[in-house]
Order: sequence, then C-alpha cells, then structure tokens
Amino acid sequence: MPQMVAIFNGFGGGASALVACAEYFRMQELAAPINVLGTMVLSVLIGTVTFTGSLIAFGKLQGIMRGAPITFKFQNFANGLLIAVALALGVVFVLDPTLWVMLLLIVALAAILGVLSVIPIGGADMPVVISLLNSYSGLAAAATGFVISNNVLIISGALVGASGLILTNIMCGAMNRSLANVLFGAVGTDGGMIAADGEEKSVTQYTAEDAVMMLDNAESVIIVPGYGLAVAQAQHILQEMAEMLQDRGVNVRYAIHPVAGRMPGHMNVLLAEASVPYDLLFEMDAINDDFQNTDVALVIGANDVINPAARYKKESALYGMPILNVDQAGTVMIIKRSLSPGFAGEDNELFYAEKTMMLFGDAKKVVTDIVQVLKGGG
Ligand code: TAP
Repeated sequence: MPQMVAIFNGFGGGASALVACAEYFRMQELAAPINVLGTMVLSVLIGTVTFTGSLIAFGKLQGIMRGAPITFKFQNFANGLLIAVALALGVVFVLDPTLWVMLLLIVALAAILGVLSVIPIGGADMPVVISLLNSYSGLAAAATGFVISNNVLIISGALVGASGLILTNIMCGAMNRSLANVLFGAVGTDGGMIAADGEEKSVTQYTAEDAVMMLDNAESVIIVPGYGLAVAQAQHILQEMAEMLQDRGVNVRYAIHPVAGRMPGHMNVLLAEASVPYDLLFEMDAINDDFQNTDVALVIGANDVINPAARYKKESALYGMPILNVDQAGTVMIIKRSLSPGFAGEDNELFYAEKTMMLFGDAKKVVTDIVQVLKGGG
C-alpha cells in the first residue's frame, strides 16, 4: 500500500508537469500572460520533482533500492544550487517565452533534484517524504489549474497540498522530530536486518502452547500491531484469535501508535480490513496508562514503537519518539521472526527482559498456531 501511494503521487506530479508543458505548446501562438508562464514554470518544476522523488520513494519501499540513506559531500549545497538554477531559468523563460528549451532544462534539473532530495532519506522516514511529495503533487496540480484556468484543479490541488503538509507535520510530531531532521538528518538503516549491536545476548524462545497458557489466564490483553503484521498479512487470523479470547472472557483491546507501520493510519486500515470493531482500537494517548494494569501486551511485528531506548538513549535515532508503554504490562509477548531491530536500526532491550516471551516466526504462522491450540487442535 505505501509504495502504491508513492507511485500514485509521482504520476500526479508527472501529469501536472506534462499538462503544463502541453499547454505551453498549445498556447505558443497566443502570447500567454506572465502569470500563466510563471505558474507553468512552477507546475513543471514541482511536478517533475514529485515524479522522480516518488519513483525513488517507491524503489526504497519496494526494496528495489537500498533503504539506507545515500549521502555524498555537499549534498544540500547541490540541491540548493539546482533549485536556484532552475528558478533562474524559469525567470529567463517567463521574460522570453520563445525559449522553450528553458522549460526542458527545468524539467531535467527538477528530475535530478527529485532524485537527489529523496536518496539521502532513510526507509523509515519514507512515509513522511511520501506525505510531503503528496503535498507537492497537490501544489503542482493547483499551479496547473492556474495554467489551464480550471478552478476545480486549483481548489483540489490546494486542498491536497495543505492536507499533505498538515499530515507531514502530524507525523513529525508523533516521532518528536522536525521536518528538517527528517529531510536532512539521513537517519535509518536498510530495513532492520542488521543486528543492532554485535553483543551476544540470550533470549528464551516460547511456543504457541506457552502463549495460550498465558493468554487464557489473562484478564486483559492489549494487542500492539506493527509493520510486521502488515507484511505477514496476519490481520484476519489475529481477529479470529482476538474473538476466541473475548469468548473466553478476556478483555482484548488494540493499542495504535500514530506511526506504526509505514504510512499514516496503516494499522487502522489493516485492522478494518479484518473487520476488527473500531471501538477496540485505542490511540496511544488513550491507552498508554492502561498497560500497567494489563496482564499481557501482545506485540505483533512492531519494534520501534515499543522500544524503551526512545525514552533515554540520546544517541539513538528513536530518542524522544513517544512509545507505547508495553514494558509496563505484566507479561510482554513479542511475535517476530528474529532479533533484528526495527526500521530505526536500534536494538530492543525488551527482547531480553525477564518478563518477555519471544515467539519467533512469521506473524501469520505463529498466530495461526495459537488459534489451533486455542481450538484444542494444537
Ligand atoms: P518496525 O520498527 O519497522 O518493526 C517491524 C518489525 O516487524 C521488524 O522488527 C520485523 O522483525 C518484524 N516483521 C517483519 N516482517 C514480519 C513478519 N512476516 N512476521 C513477523 N514479524 C515481522 O515497525 P513499527 O514498530 O511498526 O514502527 C514503525 C517505524 O516506521 C518507526 O520507526 C516509525 O518511526 C517509522 N515511520 C512510520 C511512519 C508511519 S506514518 N507509519 C512514518 C514515518 C516513520 P523481524 O525481521 O525480526 O521479523
């Protein structure tokens, strides 16, 4: 889903740039007024940046490209220079619209700018970038609306532009990071397959039978979904498991971290797909104080959003990000495939805690095993 959103944004930006270019060639004979030429330049510039930037975002999310930040010396300077030259060419074009080659040069520079401005951003920050690119695609559409005098395009483009910016701001707030830090901070790893620190630590592996014994005796369970739930597509079987627990009198709720997964509302969409009743879903602020009175916190494919390092480890990329207080529950049950860290590349001390039960495996397989045992067939 996130990669699809990325590619759609890109197509939106590309379409705006193409319409603006086409309009230029259509209007060439008619001597377009200066304001139309100005918005044409903006549409081509922003639309093309959105197009190539979104292709890179797509590539990173799809795993076609390295998720880790790709940086080089004077990167920000190079980006600044590209913007300045593109704008200067834009001014030349507006003053002499017969110089159509300027428009083509702007397309070329904007295409490079889109690539260069997204490659230094780590995979975990991609959702923020996508939302920003979404906002850009709206701005490009609004500019194109001025070019072709289409009010619907102007209004809808402005709405997309503004809402994209608000969403970007909300996401940065949820991670306690500034937009500048996301765009220029080069934070992130390839996707968490690297051991966070080389140290050997021991964990105890538990089975589906152990999990059922614990869940069956619990009065309250809070399920914490994360990106791994989406990867495993385990939402349907999870809903089945939750219903079985509820039938046995367990109070089951879901805790939703604002940036769990890889796009805004990712967990909400995922759980809605499995018809999880909406009143069982609680935002972080509404449920965080309840973990201390909860018997089991069942974490499924989540990592960064429960990592206690966010509270105190200043050098960590997660530092300052509000987390779900999973560690305050009586027992912490974590389903994931390995000990590898989450997107931020930070090891999670919870894996090694005494109260933690690690259930290693694909989320769908492990939850299916739990359901089998609950049914008495395991
Ligand atoms: P992550 O921290 O990335 O952890 C996901 C975990 O899922 C991984 O540790 C992985 O461990 C596990 N996993 C992957 N595939 C699995 C499978 N098939 N079965 C079971 N487990 C699987 O995810 P999170 O906790 O949801 O945190 C979200 C991250 O994205 C945060 O860093 C956040 O800042 C970032 N982010 C999100 C957003 C939005 S809007 N959602 C925006 C910006 C940034 P294994 O490999 O060991 O299985």
